[in-house]
Amino acid sequence: MAINSPEGTRDLLPDEAKFWAHFRDTAFDIFARYGYQPIETPLFEQTDLFVRGIGQATDVVSKEMFTAISGENFKRVIEGDTIKAKSRLSLRPEGTAGVVRAVAQHDLVPQGAAPAKLMYAGPMFRAERPQKGRQRMFNQVGIECLGAEDPSVDAEGIIMLMRFYAAIGVPMDATRLLVNSMGCEKCRPAYREAVRAYMNEHADAMCDECMRRAEINPLRAFDCKNPGCAEVMDGAPKISDYLCDDCREHYEAVKAYLKGAGVVFVEDPKLVRGLDYYTRTVFEVQVDQGMGSQNAIGGGGRYDKLCEEVGGRPTPGFGFALGYERCALAIQAAGYTFPSAQHCDVFVACVDDSMRAEAFRLVQACRDAGVSAEMDHQHRSLKSQFKLADKVGARLVAVLGPDELAAGQVKVRNMQTHKERLAELDKVKELLSRFGGEPFGGAHVAVDEVFGTEE
Ligand code: HAM
Repeated sequence: MAINSPEGTRDLLPDEAKFWAHFRDTAFDIFARYGYQPIETPLFEQTDLFVRGIGQATDVVSKEMFTAISGENFKRVIEGDTIKAKSRLSLRPEGTAGVVRAVAQHDLVPQGAAPAKLMYAGPMFRAERPQKGRQRMFNQVGIECLGAEDPSVDAEGIIMLMRFYAAIGVPMDATRLLVNSMGCEKCRPAYREAVRAYMNEHADAMCDECMRRAEINPLRAFDCKNPGCAEVMDGAPKISDYLCDDCREHYEAVKAYLKGAGVVFVEDPKLVRGLDYYTRTVFEVQVDQGMGSQNAIGGGGRYDKLCEEVGGRPTPGFGFALGYERCALAIQAAGYTFPSAQHCDVFVACVDDSMRAEAFRLVQACRDAGVSAEMDHQHRSLKSQFKLADKVGARLVAVLGPDELAAGQVKVRNMQTHKERLAELDKVKELLSRFGGEPFGGAHVAVDEVFGTEE
């Protein structure tokens, strides 16, 4: 029986893999204008980092982590021994905890330093029930800004994200930005208590899991998909009535910056996000076109206590992540198709096999000079080589034939105009060797310059 990819994973085939690279590069280009620099952290971390950082009561930690133990520890577990906490490892379900751990570990924001602005892209892993737009391995692009609590950081981050969506082709008229403030450690405890009390009053109508989790974090009930819970939570106390003066001022400033930049948003006092580290600003971007029930294409917020939580010095933070796959669905629903990943400047065809060695040298010289080139590797007829050239999207076909070679020439056909001309082989080779000194990222010569254009 054939073995397929694991449930909840997807292969990105060449056209989409190229689009994903373009998606990531476009995001990084835009984010770099705002001062963000790339960071790469491990795909797995100590499980404790996620438990402490993201929160034990969250679905992500309590149900969705892929947890592993390395070889020698696996043997210990089988034999009934316990293993050290640091030997318990989990695949990262998100990027924030790892980046904040790296900031703390390498002291990237020493006292009084400018904020560290970091961006990342790569796979995340959550053992969720797969459905459209929800996978077990998915790609995120994200940013984290550590070291500043000013509302301007939150606002510029949200603006930057909206600019990126527009640039990459997410249909902005079908997109909704929701914002809220979750308060801080001064005002949230009272709010949490109010929600807990409210839930206790309505315990009969709520699911067991919400009631159980209410002990650790009652705010998780806002995320429950159970219709009975959702109805009860509609009438729950609103955080906006509990914010302290500082949080209210911070929230008002974020909104004023957004309005000033012409960014349209909707306030949603029930938006709590699925991760426990947030303080103050939270936001989410949803798209209604082409999505299933998973319509959040990105989200984030402020987490001023997370760095301390994972053992670093007190360092305020703000960040977001966006899901590549959901964005791709939204972009495709708006009519976009991935362009072909195939790129070929020139296909070198041979009239017969005696020309193959010459064709092989010419193709290599083209590639060394920065021209993408291809030839047939299956001893096809000339007609079928032309078909192949068409299939790989070659702009030009250079035909090596005995008559042309005897005259020191190569016949060049423009595949768009179908016009043909003869180019001097010595001149072609001389031009290619002139540019061919630096095969790895050196000079790139235009294919037309080498093979000439038909006038
Ligand atoms: P999140 O809301 O859990 O936030 O995920 C961000 C985005 O990742 C979602 O809006 C969605 O587009 C995508 N996503 C999440 N789970 C899946 C899935 N199972 N399949 C496909 N796409 C998915 C975070 O991850 C936070 N770390 C964001 C953040 C950064 N907050 C502060 N800094």
